[in-house]
Amino acid sequence: MYKIIVDCDPGHDDIMALLTILAHDEAFKLLGICTVAGNNTLEKVTRNMLQVEEYLGIDIPVYMGMDKPLVKEAVPQPAGHGESGMDGPVLPQPEMKAQAQTAVKFYKEVLNQEDKVTIIALAPLTNLAVLLNEAPELKDKIAQIVLMGGAINGGNINKYAEFNIWHDPEAAKIVFDSGIRMIMAPLEVCYAGGIMIKEAERFKDRGKVSKLVDDLFSFYLRYAIERGWDKTAIFDLMPVVYLLKPEIFKGQEGKVDIILDGEDTQGQTIFEQGDGQHLVLLDTDREECMRIFFEAIDKLDERYV
Ligand code: BDR
Ligand code: CA
Repeated sequence: MYKIIVDCDPGHDDIMALLTILAHDEAFKLLGICTVAGNNTLEKVTRNMLQVEEYLGIDIPVYMGMDKPLVKEAVPQPAGHGESGMDGPVLPQPEMKAQAQTAVKFYKEVLNQEDKVTIIALAPLTNLAVLLNEAPELKDKIAQIVLMGGAINGGNINKYAEFNIWHDPEAAKIVFDSGIRMIMAPLEVCYAGGIMIKEAERFKDRGKVSKLVDDLFSFYLRYAIERGWDKTAIFDLMPVVYLLKPEIFKGQEGKVDIILDGEDTQGQTIFEQGDGQHLVLLDTDREECMRIFFEAIDKLDERYV
C-alpha cells in the first residue's frame, strides 16, 4: 500500500484523480491533501477541494500551501478551468475549513514521522520546493514523486512548456534536481491515455459521484468540443493510474532539465535518455486507463449516495 500525500490545485482533472484515489483505498493510504496556487488562486482551489469533500460527506484534512510561485506572480487560467477554477458543478460555499497548519509544516511533520511516502503532484511544484529548501534532509523520507507535468514535443501554455512546470519553473528545477526519484507524466502520455468525448456520456443519469463528474465534464470538455476533437486528456489522472497499474505504461529513464526563461521556452522540460533518477512516461493503454477510471467512479456511486 502506498502512503500518499496529494499536492493539487483543483481543478477538474485534479478532482477526477482524487476520486480515483478514494475508490482505491486498498492501494492508497491518503495522509492529507495540500493545495497550491496554480490553475487558480490558492483560496479558490482550496475552496473547490472543500466543496467536493462536503458534497461527498468526507473529511480528509486539507492544508493550504504557497499562494504564489517562488519568483513569478501567480497566473490563474480561467480559459481551462473557468473563473472558479472548477466551473461546471454548482456547489454551496463549504462550511468545512482547511487546517490551520500550512502545507509545508504538514509535510515536515509527516516526513519526520513516516518514511517511504509517495507524493502525487498534480500542480505547480512550489510547496515541494519550499519544503526542500527549508528541510533538505527530509528528501530521504520521500519514496518518489509521481507528477503530472512537463512536455516532450510541445507545450500547452507556451510553445514548449506544460502549465504546471511553467507556472513555477524555479520550483520545478529545485525538485527535479533534488535527487528524489521522479516519475513524470508529461502532456504526451496524458493525451495517449485520454477520454473519447462520447465516452463521457456514460456519467449521465447515474449516481451522485457520476453526477459530479458529469458536471465537471460539462465545462472541462468544452475546450476539446469547440475544436472538433474526439478525444481529450484527463491530465492529473495519469499519475494515479500509473501507480495502480504501471505495467500498462511505456517510459524511458533519464534526466529532465528545466528551462527557466524565454518566451517560448520558460518551463520547458528537456529530457535526456540515459542514467538519471527520472522516469518519463510516454505511452499507455487508453482503454485500460478509462476502464480504471470508470470502475472507480462506479464504485464511488455505490459508496456515496
Ligand atoms: C495541468 O494544468 C492544470 O490546469 C491541470 O489540472 C493539470 O494539472 C495540465 O497542464
Ligand atoms: Ca492540476
